[in-house]
Amino acid sequence: MALVTGSIAGIGQENFRFRCIACGKLSAAACQDFRCPNCGDLLEITYPAWKEARPDPSALKSAWSERRLSVRAADQSGVWRFRDVLPALADESQVISLREGNTPLYELPRCAQVSGVPRVFAKHQGMNPTGSFKDTGMTVAATFARAAGFRWVACASTGNTSASMAAYAARGGMRGLVLVPEGKISWSKLSQALDYGAVTCQLRTDFDGCLRLLEELVRSAPVYQMNSINPFRLEGQKTLALELLEQLAWHPPDHIIVPGGNLGNSSAIGKALLEMRELGLISRLPRLSVIQAEGANALWRTLRETGGKRLIRVAAETRATAIRIGNPASWKKAGRVLEATGGTCEQVSEGEIAEAKAEIGAEGIGCEPASAVTLAGLKKLRKQGFVKAEETVVLVLTGNLLKDPDFTIDFHRGEMFRGGDEAQELARLRHPPIVLDASLDAVLRTLEQFN
Ligand code: F0G
Repeated sequence: MALVTGSIAGIGQENFRFRCIACGKLSAAACQDFRCPNCGDLLEITYPAWKEARPDPSALKSAWSERRLSVRAADQSGVWRFRDVLPALADESQVISLREGNTPLYELPRCAQVSGVPRVFAKHQGMNPTGSFKDTGMTVAATFARAAGFRWVACASTGNTSASMAAYAARGGMRGLVLVPEGKISWSKLSQALDYGAVTCQLRTDFDGCLRLLEELVRSAPVYQMNSINPFRLEGQKTLALELLEQLAWHPPDHIIVPGGNLGNSSAIGKALLEMRELGLISRLPRLSVIQAEGANALWRTLRETGGKRLIRVAAETRATAIRIGNPASWKKAGRVLEATGGTCEQVSEGEIAEAKAEIGAEGIGCEPASAVTLAGLKKLRKQGFVKAEETVVLVLTGNLLKDPDFTIDFHRGEMFRGGDEAQELARLRHPPIVLDASLDAVLRTLEQFN
């Protein structure tokens, strides 16, 4: 089997090792499927050198903020700006970047009000170049794929991974192969993969079926695996947490709440928090919590029904198609970081997701449905007392509003939950478009109606 090694030409300094999350085996190289050759479990990246010579936390903080003023491409990336805590490259010019990261942190006062806490922030990863958080991981994985000499990169996706991978493959001069479930991803996301020139296959299966096939494919062809099973992806996605803490002047919030699908992102954010504490960048850990859709609640059920010991797979169904996943690959990693940070997992209904999305939208900050589970979850966690009345919360908004316009339009036109109890309850949040004759009188009468 081909190897993705730390020593293939172009990858230089080998400041990291792969470690199996189950048997702990350390290695300098990984197989193409990024699974432990001993026991088949997932790998993570570790930095043994930190044990011997821990980087100075204040030097790191100043280097990261100084780089924001630099005109060098790697410094302008909100990911590679943090390269001191990422796998090292021999040469900065190898980076494939679209100037990802550097996303805004917004305060959401009305969402704070509806959820009963004083301060709610949104870390908006939908403001990345392809409109989702995937770009922060993709820049690292694509860079290492090319440096390792791969011509083809591939992923299974509910849409955002494929859009992002297709863009980075194109920028890096590689070919991209996308496997998506037919009819189950939004046209906006599919259109991105097409535009960026990926070979796009709509498979007659669900996301879990696409991922299974991809795992087989990378074992039989020289194709580089770009799903979040690939630990380089998670290293890039760690920077969300570094950037967030920097934006909060290194004062940790009490809670960070993130949507859960395949569970790579929560694992990455949790890893970053634990590493930040290890490096002395923060002294207190925020609680990291994951929210899932009720119809795709594998982690929620796993933690409740097996105490996190054995994965319960589900047949996933939700209109938040980005997280329509029933067999999440990184469930073990996510379970561990929730435990280590004292976080929890909650599930929310389709009605709660739609309501939360409209509430976030009403603050002038759009997001896709999967991102809105965070606010819906916060409201539940506050009611349960898990989030306390005086605590500060950061919601991770993972995707841009424009990623799934059908959801938004169906909601505002009243075509979602037609006839059900939810329809009535949510009517106050709807702003349907109004068709009028093109006359001043008609527009003035409409204006009066809304006065
Ligand atoms: N939010 C959005 C907008 C997503 O696209 C995804 C995952 C998630 C949340 C969940 O993140 O999988 O790391 O737990 N989308 C993947 C994709 C699966 O193919 O685009 P996760």
